[in-house]
Parts: sequence; C-alpha cells; structure tokens
Amino acid sequence: MAPEPNSTQAPSSPFLAAIYDPATAFFERTLLRPHREYLVTELDGAVLDIGAGTGAMFPYFDAVADASTEFHATEPDPHMRQQATEKANAQTTPIRIESAPAEALPYDDATFDVVIASMVFCTIPDVESAVSEIGRVLKPGGELRFFEHVIDDGWRARVQSALAPLWKRLAGGCHLTRQTGSRLVADRSFDIVEINRLNLGVTPVRPFVRGRLRKRSAGPTR
Ligand SMILES: C[S@@+](CC[C@H](N)C(=O)[O-])C[C@H]1O[C@@H](n2cnc3c(N)ncnc32)[C@H](O)[C@@H]1O
Repeated sequence: MAPEPNSTQAPSSPFLAAIYDPATAFFERTLLRPHREYLVTELDGAVLDIGAGTGAMFPYFDAVADASTEFHATEPDPHMRQQATEKANAQTTPIRIESAPAEALPYDDATFDVVIASMVFCTIPDVESAVSEIGRVLKPGGELRFFEHVIDDGWRARVQSALAPLWKRLAGGCHLTRQTGSRLVADRSFDIVEINRLNLGVTPVRPFVRGRLRKRSAGPTR
C-alpha cells in the first residue's frame, strides 16, 4: 500500500473527537466489548496501544493491569489525545501517551512485549511504514494484536468502494477498503499465532479481522 499524499501531516478532527465516544457508546457496550477483551487477554510486560483515539482501550488496560504490566499509547490527533489523556488521568493505571504517528514511533528498538492496533490500520496513511515501525519496537517473540475492519466481498465491497471517498472525508481519514488482514499475515517479520475473519458490524464497516502475530527472532546472519 503506497503512502498517501500529505501523509506526514498530523491528523486533526475536533468534531470527530467530540462525537466519537457518544457515537460509539452503544457499539462499545454490545459489539466491541468481547474483542477489546480479546486484545488484553493475558497481557504481560510493556504494552503499546497505537492510535489510541479517545482511549477506548484504557478501561480494559485498567482491568488487567498488575505489577508485570506497563502501558503506553500514541495518538497523533491533538483532540483525540486530549480525551485519551483525560481518560487515563481518571483511572488507576498510569498510561504514558505520546503524540507520534504509527509511521514514526518514538521508542527504541525492541521496547514492547505487545503492540495493540484497534481499528487504526484503516486510518494510518502509510501502512507499510507503520508495520515496519511496529516490528522495530516489538521485542523478538513479542506480539502484535489487532482488531480491524476490512473490505468485504461481492456487493458489500462495491458499496464500500463507492462510499470510500466520502467516508474518508467524514470519518477522519478512515478507509473502508483496506485488506489489513492479508497485509499483516504476509509480513515476513511475523509468525501467525491466530487470525479470524468476523462477520461483525454493519456495511460499510464490516467485516472485521482479529488476530495475533508474533515477531520472529532475528535469523542467523550469513
Ligand atoms: C477509528 S479511531 C480508533 C481509535 C482507538 N484505537 C479505538 O480502538 O477506538 C482511529 C485513530 O487513529 C488515529 N490516527 C490517524 N492517523 C494515525 C497515524 N498515522 N498513526 C496512528 N494513529 C493514527 C486517529 O487520530 C484516530 O484516533
């Protein structure tokens, strides 16, 4: 996937940030809860939530935090980040939030045990750079856990393609037609732990892919 023009510009969606939590509250309580719980199952070590938005994952981090976990998040949109910061400050578990995009993560190599991507690959302008950065900041054996909406088949895909330009403008740069699951499992930096396609959601935001990939250890140098 080629990077988009102006992909270095920081996103800024004040309106979307203001309506995001109220607009998604019903889906959060019903559709999304089990998938967010999946993303935090048996978490251990240093965890990074990329494109954390308003901090929808933060209560789930709070629920599983213990002495062995440490939480970090990135969010490049200042309006989203403001809400994420308020959410983090209102709970017990500290979460250190940075303003960086996924394409340029401000962490050393091999920092994290787990990177979480929740409905964010649809919005990242340069997916290739983001995947490479995630691989860089994960420790060998560390996991990328993801939950993402992707392009459907048949008539639903045609609807998604037709709506995509307008949707992208209204939904903060979100792409309806990404093939995130196939892109991630094809990456040679990772082994597949599991991946599932879920007929979840409502067209045009349907289906979803959910899974876990493990970063390969560096091979022997020759
Ligand atoms: C649909 S929201 C999802 C937020 C959150 N992960 C969740 O599960 O609710 C997508 C988020 O990706 C952020 N975003 C946009 N460009 C990004 C980038 N280059 N890197 C990381 N996040 C980005 C947006 O600002 C937005 O907060």
